[in-house]
Amino acid sequence: MKTIDADTILARATPTVHQQGHEIQPFNHVVKMPIALDHATCAESVENLNQLLADTITLRDLYKKHHWQLAGPTFYQLHLLFDKHYEEQNELVDALAERIQALGGVSLAMAADVAETTIVPRPPRGREEVPVQISRLLHAHEIVLKEARTMARQAAEAGDDGTNDLVVSDVIRTNEKQVWFVSEHVVDVPLVRAD
Ligand SMILES: [Fe+2]
Repeated sequence: MKTIDADTILARATPTVHQQGHEIQPFNHVVKMPIALDHATCAESVENLNQLLADTITLRDLYKKHHWQLAGPTFYQLHLLFDKHYEEQNELVDALAERIQALGGVSLAMAADVAETTIVPRPPRGREEVPVQISRLLHAHEIVLKEARTMARQAAEAGDDGTNDLVVSDVIRTNEKQVWFVSEHVVDVPLVRAD
C-alpha cells in the first residue's frame, strides 16, 4: 500500500486562497449563444438591458433607503409598502441580469459600476420628508418606464421576443402598478372631514 506523509495529506486538505487570473469574458463583449439570434441583435439587447439593470438596481435601493429612513404618521404602512416594492424590484434585477447572461453578455453587478451607469439622480445621504421620498421614487419609475418602452420596441423590431416579453410583462407592468400604489399617497384628500 502507498503511504503518504502527514504534511502532504494536510496540504491537500488546505484551501488554496488568494488566487488570481484573467477575466474569462470582458464587459461589453458578447459571446455567441445557440439561441438563433444574430450578434447585432444580442449586442443591442445586452446594452439596453444593462442600462435598465443599472436603473432598476438604483430604484430598488431607493426603496430600501426610504424604507429605513421614513418618518411621520404614515410610517408603518409606507415602511411595509416600500419593502414590498424593494422585493419586487429585486426580482426584476435578477431577471434582467440573467437575461443579459442568457444573451451572451456580461451583466453589471457592483455598486460602483451601477453608480457610474444609472441615469436616476443621486439622492442625499440624509433623511427626507415623505412627499420628497415619494417624488424621488415616482421620478425614478418614470425614467425606467420611458426607457423600458423604447427598449421593448427595439427588441421586438430586432426579433428578440424574449427580451421584449421580459421588459413588457415584468418590468413595465410591475413599475406601472408600483407607481399607482405610491402616487395615491400624494393625493391631497381630507383625512377626517369631507370638503
Ligand atoms: Fe426592513
